[in-house]
Amino acid sequence: MPQSLIRLHHIDKQYESPGAPAVPVLHGISLEIKPGEFVCLMGQSGSGKSTLMNILGCLDAPTHGEYFLEDRRISGLVADELAQIRNRKLGFVFQGFNLLKRMTAVDNVALPMVYAGMPREQARERALEKLQATGLAGFSERLPNQLSGGQQQRIAIARALVMDPPVLLADEPTGNLDTATSEEIMGLIAQLNRDRGITIVLVTHEPDIARYGRRLIRLKDGRIVFDGDVAEGLGERVTA
Ligand SMILES: Nc1ncnc2c1ncn2[C@@H]1O[C@H](COP(=O)(O)OP(=O)(O)O)[C@@H](O)[C@H]1O
Ligand SMILES: [Mg+2]
Repeated sequence: MPQSLIRLHHIDKQYESPGAPAVPVLHGISLEIKPGEFVCLMGQSGSGKSTLMNILGCLDAPTHGEYFLEDRRISGLVADELAQIRNRKLGFVFQGFNLLKRMTAVDNVALPMVYAGMPREQARERALEKLQATGLAGFSERLPNQLSGGQQQRIAIARALVMDPPVLLADEPTGNLDTATSEEIMGLIAQLNRDRGITIVLVTHEPDIARYGRRLIRLKDGRIVFDGDVAEGLGERVTA
């Protein structure tokens, strides 16, 4: 197992579009995440959380700086290599679930395996096994709009993890869910971290959600202003 799972060195990000001034968003972000960590990322709206998550998820590239995932240098890889890394190494879940609307739950879960080259029927069988293992088999033939928000997010998590990636990136995964459902989803994510050792990086606004994690990174205006124990970062006394 690599010592360090994620390493960022002096990452800057600015959004550039033709005819408009560049928008600087991230400034000199350096951090390291080890296998098995559960990291929460907080910060005001617009502080750069999603921008940082997109870079970690290889969905966007930094303007300057270096990103290493499992000691492999990400900056400089070509599109095909990045797609393969997203497929094998990273699971991503979003606030809006992002399931494909016209595909059933089981086909959504099968998708990463189909992308990886597995024949569709075999991928569907494996996806169904995964859904059975997580108690979701009864929903396998439903379309996303026939599922509750909590069920959709569970399907999205199953899809994110079907290739057994070491990392799950979650950008406000409970942002569209009520409190009870949020607790269920966070219970599931915490269990994946505890029982399967999946490394979690999770964006949230809410202290109650952040408390499921162990390490807190707080961003302000694109800079890290806190990186340490969750309770300390939330301004709560650490009771040992
Ligand atoms: N594609 C883009 N083009 C230009 N500016 C962007 C783009 N995406 C985000 N931004 C800007 O970058 C800043 C940080 O956005 P974001 O990373 O989404 O913050 P957060 O997730 O913390 O709310 C915001 O000011 C936002 O308007
Ligand atoms: Mg965001």
